[in-house]
Amino acid sequence: RKRIVSGVQPTGSIHLGNYLGAIKNWIRLQDTFETFFFIVDLHAITLQYDAQQLLRSTRDTAAIYLACGVDPSKASVFVQSHVRAHVELMWLLSSATPIGWLNRMIQFKEKSRKAGDENVGVALLTYPVLMAADILLYQSDLVPVGEDQKQHLELTRELAERVNYLYGGRKWKKLGGRGGAIFKVPEPLIPPAGARIMSLTDGLSKMSKSAPSDQSRINLLDSKDVIANKIKRCKTDAFPGLEFDNTERPECNNLLSIYQLVTGKTKQEVTEECGDMNWGTFKIVLTDALVDHLHPIQVRYEQIVSDSSYLDEVLAEGARKAADIADVTVNNVYQAMGFLRR
Ligand code: AQP
Repeated sequence: RKRIVSGVQPTGSIHLGNYLGAIKNWIRLQDTFETFFFIVDLHAITLQYDAQQLLRSTRDTAAIYLACGVDPSKASVFVQSHVRAHVELMWLLSSATPIGWLNRMIQFKEKSRKAGDENVGVALLTYPVLMAADILLYQSDLVPVGEDQKQHLELTRELAERVNYLYGGRKWKKLGGRGGAIFKVPEPLIPPAGARIMSLTDGLSKMSKSAPSDQSRINLLDSKDVIANKIKRCKTDAFPGLEFDNTERPECNNLLSIYQLVTGKTKQEVTEECGDMNWGTFKIVLTDALVDHLHPIQVRYEQIVSDSSYLDEVLAEGARKAADIADVTVNNVYQAMGFLRR
C-alpha cells in the first residue's frame, strides 16, 4: 500500500479550515493507504509560543484527530517529538541543504517580515528541512499539501534527489548499503477543490489558528451558542441572492462552500437550495448544519479526554509503529553518509 503522511501543528484551537482542509480527508485516506498522522509539535515552536499552550494543544489536537474519526487501528497517530528520528534526520539533511534554497522560501520571507528580525529564530528558516525529514523518514509516496505548502514539498523532493545523488547509488553500496535510492521522492496529493476555508471576517484571508480575532474562525470545539454568534456576526455582502464563484463575493463563496462541505451536498444542490435565500435565512441554515456536524465530534472528544490513559496508549503505540520505520531510514542515512554505526 502507498504511504501518506500528514499533520497539524498544535499552535492553537483546531478550526474548521484544519478540519475541512486536512483532517476530514484523512478519514477517507486511512482506508486505502498506509497512513501516518502526527501532531507536529516540533514545528509549533518556530515562532514565539507559550509552553503551557503547546502542552495543552498537543493533547487536544490528538484527541480531536480521534474524535473526527482517525482510527488508530488503521492509521499511526503520534506526536512528532516522540519519534526522535525526525530531529536526527533533520540535522543530517541540513548538511545537504544549500542555504539559498531556504532563503527563497516564501513562507519564511512572509513570516519573518511580520515577526521582525529579533523575534525570528533559526528554526523558522530551517523549518522546511524538518518538514522534509517528516516526509522522507517514512518513504512516503504521497503528501497532502495545500497551496501554501507546495513550495516546501518541492524542496523536499529536490532534497531527496540530492541526497540520493550524493550518498546513494553505487557509493552507498560500497559502504554496505543496498545501492539505489536512499529516499523515495514523494508526490503531492492535491486536496479536493474548494477545501481552502477563508476567515469569517475577511473572505480573502484564510481561516487560521493564529489570527488574533476568534470571531474569524469556527473552532471545532465551539459551543452551539458561540457558533450561532460567529455566523450571525460574520462578514457578508449586499448583493441579492447567494452564489458560488463570484470573485466580487468571496465571503458568499466561502460560506456556501462550508455549507456544502459539512452537509456533503453537491454544489448544484446547494445552489438550488440556497440561491434565492437572503443572508438571514441562510445564516440559520448554515448554523444548524455546522452544529449538527460538529456535535458528534464534540461528544466523542469529551469521551476521549475523560480517559487520559486511552489517549496515552494510542500515542505510545503510534510512536512505536512510526519509530520502527523511521529508525530504519535514519540508520540507512547515517550509514550512507559514512557514520560509524554501533
Ligand atoms: N483555512 C484553511 N483551509 C483549508 N485548510 C487549511 N489548513 C489550515 N488552514 C486551512 C490545513 O490544515 C493543515 C494543518 O495546518 P498547520 O497546522 O500545519 O498550519 P497552517 O496551515 O499554517 O494552519 P493555521 O491554522 O493557519 O495555523 P497557523 O495560524 O498556526 O499558521 C494543513 O494541511 C493546512 O493545509
